[in-house]
Amino acid sequence: MRRIAHISDLHFGTEDPPVAAGLLTDLAEQKPHVVAVSGDLTQRARDTQFASAKAYLDQIPSAKIIVPGNHDQPLFNLAERWLWPLYRYKKWITPELRPLLQDAELTVVGINTARRNTPKSGRVSMDQIRWLRETMVAAPRNHFRVLVAHHPVIPPDHNPEETVVGRAKLMLQTLEASGCSLILAGHLHKAYSGDVRPYHVEIKRSILVFQAGTAISHRRREEPNAYNLITIDGDRLQLEVRAWDGAQFATLNRREYEQKEDGWTVRPI
Ligand SMILES: [Fe+2]
Ligand SMILES: [Fe+2]
Repeated sequence: MRRIAHISDLHFGTEDPPVAAGLLTDLAEQKPHVVAVSGDLTQRARDTQFASAKAYLDQIPSAKIIVPGNHDQPLFNLAERWLWPLYRYKKWITPELRPLLQDAELTVVGINTARRNTPKSGRVSMDQIRWLRETMVAAPRNHFRVLVAHHPVIPPDHNPEETVVGRAKLMLQTLEASGCSLILAGHLHKAYSGDVRPYHVEIKRSILVFQAGTAISHRRREEPNAYNLITIDGDRLQLEVRAWDGAQFATLNRREYEQKEDGWTVRPI
């Protein structure tokens, strides 16, 4: 059994201090094996914001896998944005833009989808897709394979026109062939989940997508601050959305999945 806390869009510079403290308290209680951070650690990629993000993440004792988001590259400093878009992210958070985290049960890989010229939708490169295939294929057979990225591969139900990450289809074909079961992403500040197949009809194997809202920023989009707590136990998977209720993080909703022949199926709780 493994438990992953998926937190996203922290946006330091716009963080809500009581919520930020509440998340640390909740994570200390939930004790996830892994914390996956799916980008937008800062609001404007400033040194002070990265310093705050770094100090905050250092307080979480779990193993972490972190990827940048579009807000982690500068918006106004065009020279830096063009020449060294992730210079400050690498300096403060990690120089690794292709993080890989493995234990006895899990292979979790991360990719950077932020691009200096397409901040809204992001993109995956052919080189990243090749690396994903190699890494997922090389993982031990019994491992549950997870991808962490900032930009979504499926839109939310209420807005099917929402742009998804560039080359999503090519990447999903690779993930389908290499055994990936779950994609964790953020960017839209909306918590939603689904299978890739209804949107990407050419994909035949079930791959789940869990999107997280903003964990601690006041840049909410008509939703409370929230994060995803995921429990992986053999053929069973549980997604619990834990949201800020004004005093603490608590269960907002829970969904259980079971791996069947035709893919991940929602089980009544
Ligand atoms: Fe964001
Ligand atoms: Fe974003």
